[in-house]
Amino acid sequence: PPGSPISIDPLRSVAKEMKFLTKNIRQLIGSGHPSLDTVSKYYTQSEGKYVRPMLVLLMSRATALTPKTPRSMIPSSTTVNSPLSSENILVDSNPSVPEYAPLTSPAADATYTNDLSDILPSQRRLAEITELIHTASLLHDDVIDHSVARRSAPSANIEFGNKMAVLAGDFLLGRASVALARLRDPEVIELLATVIANLVEGEFMQLKNTAQDEKNPVWKEETLTYYLQKTYLKSASLISKSCRAAALLGQSAPEVVEAAYQYGKNLGLAFQLVDDMLDYTISGAELGKPAGADLELGLATAPLLFAWKDNKQLGPLVGRKFSGDTDVQTARSMVLASSGLEKTHALAQSYVDKAIEAISIFPDSEAKDGLIEMCTKSLKRRK
Ligand code: FPP
Ligand code: MG
Ligand code: MG
Repeated sequence: PPGSPISIDPLRSVAKEMKFLTKNIRQLIGSGHPSLDTVSKYYTQSEGKYVRPMLVLLMSRATALTPKTPRSMIPSSTTVNSPLSSENILVDSNPSVPEYAPLTSPAADATYTNDLSDILPSQRRLAEITELIHTASLLHDDVIDHSVARRSAPSANIEFGNKMAVLAGDFLLGRASVALARLRDPEVIELLATVIANLVEGEFMQLKNTAQDEKNPVWKEETLTYYLQKTYLKSASLISKSCRAAALLGQSAPEVVEAAYQYGKNLGLAFQLVDDMLDYTISGAELGKPAGADLELGLATAPLLFAWKDNKQLGPLVGRKFSGDTDVQTARSMVLASSGLEKTHALAQSYVDKAIEAISIFPDSEAKDGLIEMCTKSLKRRK
């Protein structure tokens, strides 16, 4: 009725595709080895949020209506023999990997070809690949973070031990690579291979709180820059580069490809800022994983960095990674008493505004509304 609040479910426009996602993912990661099969599929049993595949599907549908440029008309941004950097990684072109399980089943193929959806089969596959890479990173992350719970269940490292958790993560990356290679799109392969490298780079940056890693660090603007760069690598890289890849697979024009990337980058940064906020504000029971974990891990995230800017007493605690007897409790109280959480939320809001601005060039559609709703939902989420 007129006047009533319109509630848009971002899922609605891609609900049908999402239904097949988990099933297809489980097919992609099947192994003939029974315990590898079990460990690899462990996190697919619990309900993930499926943020990344949902974004790929929404982006695919939202860009279906935008101007197209045949890919053959666009000079590839990568050249053979170009130097390697975090933004430019060369890959071998056709790795041949033996198959343990079929990558598609007749049933899965049917869902890909029997409807007249504007989402391409390659874009659906990309959505699955993003979830595989994300799940692999969670398997590794829970080992690194000594985590005990994920998605309201014991984490894989607890259930199966570190060795199997790490190896299962590697296996998922292998299968993600096979699926990626089968898209036969070198630029998309390069983007997602770069994501894997970026995840490791982000995690390495996180091992140190600051670029210098001093004993008694002083707050500088670069502290925040370092944190945001780390955040791009560990969280926004996957979201931004998979949004970009979705637009590329849809033959979108260069300005559309760039808009998709900017949307993903800004939403990805906002998403992780909110994550770092929830670590302070939400209980472990609600999060489905331990709360307050970051300080325990020695990590100074955005809420603490903003608190530190106003309260220089936090410097030595950051320097010793909150390892003193009362450091974690002291730091937590200082963050809660500061404007750190508010400022983190405001920064997340500013990135969400940029994400929405980036896709303003897209024609109006249900999928575009879904992309906008993903932004507002990310800011309001409690898990
Ligand atoms: C979760 O962050 C972790 C990530 C976003 C990325 C982790 C990346 C690696 C471990 C690099 C190696 C992995 C691969 C697959 C190449 P968090 O610990 O802040 O969040 P959490 O609270 O959900 O654990
Ligand atoms: Mg973790
Ligand atoms: Mg971590």
